[in-house]
Amino acid sequence: MPEISRRAANLGTENAFVVLAEVNALARAGADIVSFCIGQPDFPAPENVQEAAIRAVRGGKHGYTPSAGIDELREAAAKYMSRVRGGLPIRAEDVVVGAGAKPFIAYAILSTTDHGAGDEVIYPNPGFPIYESQIAAHGAVPVPIHLREARGFAFDPADLEGLITPRTKLLILNTPQNPTGGTLDRKTLEAIAAILKPHPRIWVYADEIYSRLAYEGEFFSIAQAPGMVERTIISDGASKTWAMTGWRIGFAANPALAPVFTRWITNTDSCASQISQWAALEAVTGPQDAAERMRRSFLERRDLIVRLLNEVPGVKCLVPGGAFYAWPNVTEACRLIGAADSEEFRKRLLNEAGVAVLADIHFGSRVPGEGQHVRFSYAASKEAIEKGVARMAEFIRRNTKKAA
Ligand SMILES: Cc1ncc(COP(=O)(O)O)c(C=O)c1O
Repeated sequence: MPEISRRAANLGTENAFVVLAEVNALARAGADIVSFCIGQPDFPAPENVQEAAIRAVRGGKHGYTPSAGIDELREAAAKYMSRVRGGLPIRAEDVVVGAGAKPFIAYAILSTTDHGAGDEVIYPNPGFPIYESQIAAHGAVPVPIHLREARGFAFDPADLEGLITPRTKLLILNTPQNPTGGTLDRKTLEAIAAILKPHPRIWVYADEIYSRLAYEGEFFSIAQAPGMVERTIISDGASKTWAMTGWRIGFAANPALAPVFTRWITNTDSCASQISQWAALEAVTGPQDAAERMRRSFLERRDLIVRLLNEVPGVKCLVPGGAFYAWPNVTEACRLIGAADSEEFRKRLLNEAGVAVLADIHFGSRVPGEGQHVRFSYAASKEAIEKGVARMAEFIRRNTKKAA
């Protein structure tokens, strides 16, 4: 049997998909599971978007498009990304359309680091697991920067200063954040920009896929800080804002790198689905009522789940500023039930109480001194939230009695 490469053998994954397979196997065997695993809106894409896709199919929009995307969508996405970011100057030629925002993580790493050269990429931990796996897969050095509960899950800008070396090529930022739901506020982002000022060779990848799901005040991008727009790759897309995860449309904007990303796409996907591109054009330019309704619904569910989680014995949950994730601290709950860590807690919660969540170790190595956390995606119905959290409370009470 021929061997697979070390690169492929060591390739990381999104453990959400691994846990999901576990949950599905239990559900198939007849278990009643309330799942908070999956990181996607629980709504269909808006009607007007669906109609636009049907029009594209019927209208013969079946062929390849330019690798950077159809001109109409690049133009609309540039205006849209600018509008969401305080009128930041973004031109259509700075924008590339991809098959989701995710591929731009790889393209950004591939375009700013060289394989095996010792080039370093700083990325948030806990964070979207694809950052670390793609940095390693492309032969760069992953340098985690720790998010702190005491700072609302932002990192301390002083930590960044300590991590920058002459080999640092790229800094990945994510706000609002997966998995904590935390945000980097304007003050923090301006402090980061000030630290980067004497290091003009460092690129920034601003993963802003949850930009429209920021709940406190106006969204602010690091690209809006003085001197940052040229060196920042802004990443956004249709997945979360318009409930289009399976349609695979993302946008990345940077004046210097847009032609480079375009070449990567020619080498990989050729282009994003033409049908989805016409649908995304409608999503971006059409009525925003459905997107606003979904946002309001996530906000209501955030308030519900945070209130309920804080009533559970041994659980403390900060109010997340964005996305649709809650990241409760379960250190005390683990102690109460005699679980060694959040992963044992997660497994027992799934098997003994039928509640599926992800553990902090699915988002990077545990941050020293920060305790144990699990992730709830609250893109679930109110009934599921009430039932799931009640089950968790009952599970902890039952096992606390046993442990005592
Ligand atoms: C932080 C973050 N970035 C990027 C993505 C990928 O988005 P897309 O569906 O547009 O590829 C996700 C999806 O979960 C995410 O959480």
